[in-house]
Amino acid sequence: MSGPERKPDIDTLVRELIDRRSLSTEGYAALIRERSPETACILRAEADRLKERIYGRDVYVRGLIELSNICKNDCLYCGIRRSNASVERYRLSIEEILLSCDTGYELGFRTFVLQGGEDGFFDDDVLCGLIGRIKEKHPDCAVTLSMGERSRESYEKLFKAGTDRYLLRHESADPLHYRKLHPPEMSFENRMECLRILKATGYQTGCGFMVGSPFQTEKELSEDLKFIESFKPDMCGIGPFIPHKATPFAGEKPGSVELTLFLISILRIIHPEMLIPSTTALGTLSPAGREEGIRAGANVVMPNLSPKAVRKKYELYDNKICTGEESAECRGCLERRMESIGHRIVTDRGDIKKR
Ligand code: 5AD
Ligand code: FES
Repeated sequence: MSGPERKPDIDTLVRELIDRRSLSTEGYAALIRERSPETACILRAEADRLKERIYGRDVYVRGLIELSNICKNDCLYCGIRRSNASVERYRLSIEEILLSCDTGYELGFRTFVLQGGEDGFFDDDVLCGLIGRIKEKHPDCAVTLSMGERSRESYEKLFKAGTDRYLLRHESADPLHYRKLHPPEMSFENRMECLRILKATGYQTGCGFMVGSPFQTEKELSEDLKFIESFKPDMCGIGPFIPHKATPFAGEKPGSVELTLFLISILRIIHPEMLIPSTTALGTLSPAGREEGIRAGANVVMPNLSPKAVRKKYELYDNKICTGEESAECRGCLERRMESIGHRIVTDRGDIKKR
């Protein structure tokens, strides 16, 4: 029976993951490689059970405001990389950002996610001033920043100014793979150090990665899962890689929606209380992708709150959805989508529920 070519027993791995919330790197790789619709169904049911117990049928919303598509970085996968001369660059004014928050507040958002390229205009003074004004107008709201790698001093200042959360996807937990996705001047070590600093500073911290990025195999994905096991982030965002026409990865295959959903269920089982978004990239590759993400174990959606005029310019990947809609349309659209699968969007900051 147990000859050298015997396949790892999938049922045993599924049991072990559910019972221990952890597998070895090899275990994760085998589970991913050998997955079947039946395995996905079992893990989805367990993920759903865990999520229901902690968050019920509530889905948290974050209003995503895309501050600027100006970026000093040159990530090979990203549509707003500095080498892309075909994108029209923009930067929202402070007044435009505050107006977006006001619109969002009216629509029931209690978290604003300020995301942007690494644009030098948004130095500590500018960002601290902005955060202070948002908090002054909307003291019952959480502010999340997603503004890339900064210094420890900067992260500390932004935290003191009132920032509650920070999103910085680690992109890949494998240093070699990380290097294949980024230009030589970007460093895996610095990215990981930023994540550790963010957590130690006191932020609710989010990491994450793309599914199906070039050169990624089950091995790299299993390292991502091991990293998330040990780092214990408060949030983890994953979405399928989608090629952008003006990047070196233009001709690469997009990631798999099915594998992304499978990994969302695994993430929920590893850390049942984690905040997991059902991402726009999922909705871009599949019409009901975001609903499927919630059904697989996610509990957050992040509709676009950016002014309609700039949306098309913040194209990290081709065919991004919601670039022609108004904020209110996206909010209503997602409300209906969540209701169609027995969930409801709630007017709440949506902090992590720690046991
Ligand atoms: N496909 C999918 N996701 C992408 N991101 C950047 N470019 C792409 C792409 N081509 C993701 C990265 C980044 C986040 C803001 O968007 O993971 O951290
Ligand atoms: Fe934007 Fe549906 S969420 S149109």
